[in-house]
Amino acid sequence: MKTAVLGFGTVGVGVYEMLAKARGLEPGPVLVRPGKEDAPYKVSSMEAIVNDPSVEAVAEVMGGIEPAYTYACAALKAGKHFVTSNKALVAAKGVELNRLAREKGAAFLFSAACGGGVPFLHNLALARESDSILSLGGILNGTTNYMLDAMQRLGLDYAEALADAQRLGYAEADPTADVSGLDALRKIMLACAVAYDLLPTEGLLHEGIDSITAADVRHFQPRGYSCRLLASGGRTESGVYAYVEPVLLREGAPACSVLQNYNMARYEGRNSGPIVLMGQGAGRYPTASAVLRDLSGILRGERYLFSTGCAAGKADNSGSVHCYYVRLPADLAGELEAESTELAGPVARLVTKPMSVSAMHETARRLRARGAALFFAAIGG
Ligand code: HSE
Repeated sequence: MKTAVLGFGTVGVGVYEMLAKARGLEPGPVLVRPGKEDAPYKVSSMEAIVNDPSVEAVAEVMGGIEPAYTYACAALKAGKHFVTSNKALVAAKGVELNRLAREKGAAFLFSAACGGGVPFLHNLALARESDSILSLGGILNGTTNYMLDAMQRLGLDYAEALADAQRLGYAEADPTADVSGLDALRKIMLACAVAYDLLPTEGLLHEGIDSITAADVRHFQPRGYSCRLLASGGRTESGVYAYVEPVLLREGAPACSVLQNYNMARYEGRNSGPIVLMGQGAGRYPTASAVLRDLSGILRGERYLFSTGCAAGKADNSGSVHCYYVRLPADLAGELEAESTELAGPVARLVTKPMSVSAMHETARRLRARGAALFFAAIGG
């Protein structure tokens, strides 16, 4: 199956190389920016790809919503299978693309968009057919896991850790989505859509690691805690929840053994119990391997991860409750109901009484609007 590749960055190069070696697949034209056509297989016109009858599938690894969405529609309308690693695209336009692909009888697969090389969505899609998925989530961003690991194990400061993650090709071109938790949020949105037929697009909450400092690490590490950025999703009687936030875990908790750019994705089926999948969540070849798995899947007849009825909807995060570690200016410590508070000059570090995820995120938003520098993390097991 000749496959055109849209984008020739970190992942695109990997996909192109792997296509040349994979059974049943062959590399087609590669779409690059005008002026970058420095080899015969590189083209700068999407029309040339859409109108090439020998191209049966398109693999999009450019990132961003536009022009990726326009290209996705063009490829699907021309009846070509469409595979993408682009979580921003699927989180924003996945419902429409699923509908269009089904109308045209073309595949729409995006395993690489959640978990990098970890075959999470694929297994979730299989599991939902025969089991009821109670909850899902885990460590879904390689950049922030790499950074937290480097800060905690190697003593790097935030800027050094981010620079390393960028140099290693884990971060997005603009790493804001990684460090703010938005990248992980998009991934949990996709996982919820696969598991529950509902792509949550409203009521979502995300807190990243962009407020953590080396001083925070020096505070919680000697107390036996390690920080991970966790995505959480699930379905309760009141609906689907989906949020991302840093969590302090007791050293020895399974997620603490997830190092570097690794992801740890999990789901719990009513019958299967907890299932955990671990592997590299970012980087050229791990991510490209997931794109190639989707393309090989098409050869075996796989077509969709979202079901026919998958629709956008609202998340409800008011039912999830945690105690939180919060570092904030000492004069604002009274804004939260605390189990315990430690004061160190102008800084307070407290542990809150149990509060809902939505209440914690709303409090942080309100205090930051008043100019407060604040870091918070749920206290996990
Ligand atoms: N920037 C993403 C991450 C790439 O760090 O997880 C893989 O989706």
